[in-house]
Amino acid sequence: MYSATGMLMLLTAALAILAPSALGLDRAEFPPGFLFGAATSAYQIEGAYLEDGKGLNNWDVFTHTRPGDITDGRNGDVTDDHYHRYMEDVEIMRDLGVNSYRFSISWARILPRGHSGGVNSAGIAFYDRLIAALLQKGIEPFVTLHHFDQPQELETQYGSWLGTGIREEFDYYADVCFRAFGDRVKFWTTFNEPNVFAKDSYMLGTYPPNHCSSPFGTCNSGNSYREPYVAAHNIIMSHAAVVDNYKRNYQAKQGGSIGIVIEMKFYESLTNNTEDILAAQRAMSFEIHWFLDPLFFGEYPKEMREMLSSNLPKFSLAEKRLLQNKVDFIGINHYTAIYAKDCMLSPCDLNTYEGNALVLAIGERDGVRIGKPTALDGFYDVPEGMEKIIKYVDKRYENVPIYVTENGYSQHSSNGLEDLVNDVGRVNYMHGYLSSVASAVRRGANVRGYFVWSLMDNFEWAHGFTVRFGLYHVDFNTQVRTQKMSAKWYHDFLMGSRPVDALQTLRADY
Ligand code: GAL
Repeated sequence: MYSATGMLMLLTAALAILAPSALGLDRAEFPPGFLFGAATSAYQIEGAYLEDGKGLNNWDVFTHTRPGDITDGRNGDVTDDHYHRYMEDVEIMRDLGVNSYRFSISWARILPRGHSGGVNSAGIAFYDRLIAALLQKGIEPFVTLHHFDQPQELETQYGSWLGTGIREEFDYYADVCFRAFGDRVKFWTTFNEPNVFAKDSYMLGTYPPNHCSSPFGTCNSGNSYREPYVAAHNIIMSHAAVVDNYKRNYQAKQGGSIGIVIEMKFYESLTNNTEDILAAQRAMSFEIHWFLDPLFFGEYPKEMREMLSSNLPKFSLAEKRLLQNKVDFIGINHYTAIYAKDCMLSPCDLNTYEGNALVLAIGERDGVRIGKPTALDGFYDVPEGMEKIIKYVDKRYENVPIYVTENGYSQHSSNGLEDLVNDVGRVNYMHGYLSSVASAVRRGANVRGYFVWSLMDNFEWAHGFTVRFGLYHVDFNTQVRTQKMSAKWYHDFLMGSRPVDALQTLRADY
C-alpha cells in the first residue's frame, strides 16, 4: 500500500509524462525583456495575521466578525502560510521558470495602525528578505501597494476610502515603501482593481466595510448610489499623489515605473440592437473609463457624468492638474468576456455588479454560452476576449505600455485531488489566452508582461477556499505544494520547448 504522499508523488510523476507542451505558442514571439510571471496578494497567501507586530487589517476584522459572508466561513489567518514559507515559494517560482513575481505588500504589516502608529521594522524586514530571495533567483519583483487590505485603524479614523484623510495615509505608506524597497523594486502599482474594490465594498457590500443600500443588498449602513464614487474619487486622487511623489523624489534615482491595475471584462453586445450596443459601451465605461479617463483625460466619462449626476464627485482645477501624467503603464486583469444587455428600455434586476450602468451581464446568447464555464459564476473561457480588451485599451489610452497583471482559471475545491492536479481546463485556458496576447503583440499593442493568477491556490476573498486558481495545488492542512499540469505546461512554454505532443488530444477530450 502507498501512503497518501506516495500516491501523490506517483500521480505527479504520471502527470509529468502526460502533460501537454505549449504547442503552437512560442515564447520567442514575445518581445525581449517581456515579463512572464505569476501573481499573488498579501492577504490571500501570507497568513501570520498577528505576527511580528502586524496590525489588524480590514479583512482580518471582516472575516472574523462576519464569517457568514465568506462561503466556507473561513479566513486568511493562516492560508498558504507564505510568511513562513516564502523561501520554498521562491524556489517553486525558480523551478517554474518565471522571470517576475507580482505580489502585494500588507499595509498593516508595515504600518500596523497607519501613520500614527509608526513603522514596523519586522514588516520591512520580511519584504526585504522576500525581495532579496527573488533577486537572488533572477526574479523581478512587481509590487502592488494596495490589494484590497488596509489597516483597520484607518476604517475607524476616516471611514477608510470615504474620508479624504486616507489620501495622506496612503501617500505616507507608499513613501515608506519607496524609501525601503525602491532601490530594488522597479515595477510598482498603486492599486489593484479599485473598480472591483469600490463596488464590492460600497455598492454590493460583499467586501469590508460591508456598506450598501437597497436594492444592491442589505447592510447596516451605506449608500450604493453614492459611496462607490466617493471612495473611487479618493482612490484616484491617492494614486495621483503617490505617483507625483514617486516621480518627483524617487523615479530618477531608482529608475522604476509606476502604474495602476484595473479589472476589465470584455463586454460584448448581446444583440445587434442599438440599445444593447450602447449597453456594452456603458458597461465598459463604468468598468474601465471610470478610473482611467480621469488619469488620461482629467475627467470622468460622459456616460457616468450624465447618469450619476450629483452622486459623481467633480475634479477641481487643482485636482485636474495633479492628475496629469500619472500612469507609466496600465495593468489589465482580464479573466472573461460577457454579454451586455440593456436595462434602460427593458426592465431587469439591477442589484448586480453592472446594475449602476443599467446593464445586465449574461453568459448566454440564444441558449449558447459565450465560452466554457469555470468554477466562478460569470467567468467563462473566451480567449479572444484577451486580444479584444488589449486592443481596446491600446486604442483609447494612446498605445500606453500594458502588463496583463492577472489572468487565470478557477476550479472547484470539492473536485478530487487527481482532477485538481490534472488541470487540463487551465492548460487549455492559458494556451488560448496567451495565444491571444501573442496575437495582440503581433498587431502592435505595447504589451510588456503577463502574470498568471495565481502562483498557488489561496484564500479567494468571499469564496474562501472553495475555489482554486493556483498553478500549484496547496493542501491547506499540511501546506504541501504540488505542481499541477498547468505549472508544467507553463514551465515548458517558458523554456521554449515545443515538442509535438498530446495537446490537441487533450483539447478534444476536454
Ligand atoms: C481578482 C483579484 C485577485 C483574485 C482574482 C481571482 O479580482 O485581484 O485577488 O482574487 O480576482 O478571482
